[in-house]
Amino acid sequence: MPETVEDIEFRLLLEAVLRKYHYDFRGYSVASLRRRLRQARERLGCRTFSQLQDRVLHDPSVFPTLLSYLTVQVSELFRDPAYFRAVREQVVPYLRTYPSLKVWVAGCSTGEEVYSLAILFREEGVEDRTMIYGTDINPEALRKAEAGVYELDRIPLFTENHRKSGGKSSLSDYYTAAYGGAVFDKNLRRRTVFSDHSLAADEVFAEVQFVSCRNVLIYFDRELQNRAVGLFHDSLSHKGFLGLGARESLRFTRHADSFEEFDREERIYRKRGDR
Ligand SMILES: C[S@@+](CC[C@H](N)C(=O)[O-])C[C@H]1O[C@@H](n2cnc3c(N)ncnc32)[C@H](O)[C@@H]1O
Repeated sequence: MPETVEDIEFRLLLEAVLRKYHYDFRGYSVASLRRRLRQARERLGCRTFSQLQDRVLHDPSVFPTLLSYLTVQVSELFRDPAYFRAVREQVVPYLRTYPSLKVWVAGCSTGEEVYSLAILFREEGVEDRTMIYGTDINPEALRKAEAGVYELDRIPLFTENHRKSGGKSSLSDYYTAAYGGAVFDKNLRRRTVFSDHSLAADEVFAEVQFVSCRNVLIYFDRELQNRAVGLFHDSLSHKGFLGLGARESLRFTRHADSFEEFDREERIYRKRGDR
């Protein structure tokens, strides 16, 4: 298909974002990125991507709004409870054997996945030997993650998810209602660190025994998925675990052979010992 003017403007906009703000979206899957950029264009009252590019280049205060469209911030505590049940019942027994444990939650958004794992590790008695690193590229999301405050009207869903994940206590043990929100226990933050890291631009993060990267690869094209999974592979220690989202898989990535399927249904993989 011949390139349309909008195709050209779309590419130039991504190039401008990279050069001016150092965020690289060139390897994201085009259809959904373009749809979200059209929404941003409308919200910011621009007729074309070129106009949007002009705004973004000349008015830095516009960039955070654009970034909120470029990145999708949907998350839940214990999202897909069966995944967390599998982590609890099948992965933790292995993790328990390590004297110290590092976990990387890549693309942690506003922190729900990190708090879910922190609660789960406390319930399973491995919290004290565990460090959880939550990383993302969206600074606003990372700020919310650090604050650990969620809207009260989300709590019934979180409570139900926690119960279905095999939760051994009441979720209400982990938060207090204040200032119109649920403020999560600061002690859960003792063994967690949130930081800026891009799967598209940065290098290996740290040596870890478990990577949980859920609902992030789905936004990447094949090449960028390969890059991200390569980083996970290089970060994971011998026989480390990798958990993906419900609609994600290693099947078509370059590194598929370096992992074995540990729980096919819940998309949990284990790095092969010989790779
Ligand atoms: C849909 S959220 C997933 C949140 C959480 N993992 C979950 O499953 O509930 C996707 C997250 O990936 C982040 N993200 C997008 N591109 C990224 C990149 N290149 N490196 C790291 N994180 C990225 C977004 O900012 C967003 O917070």
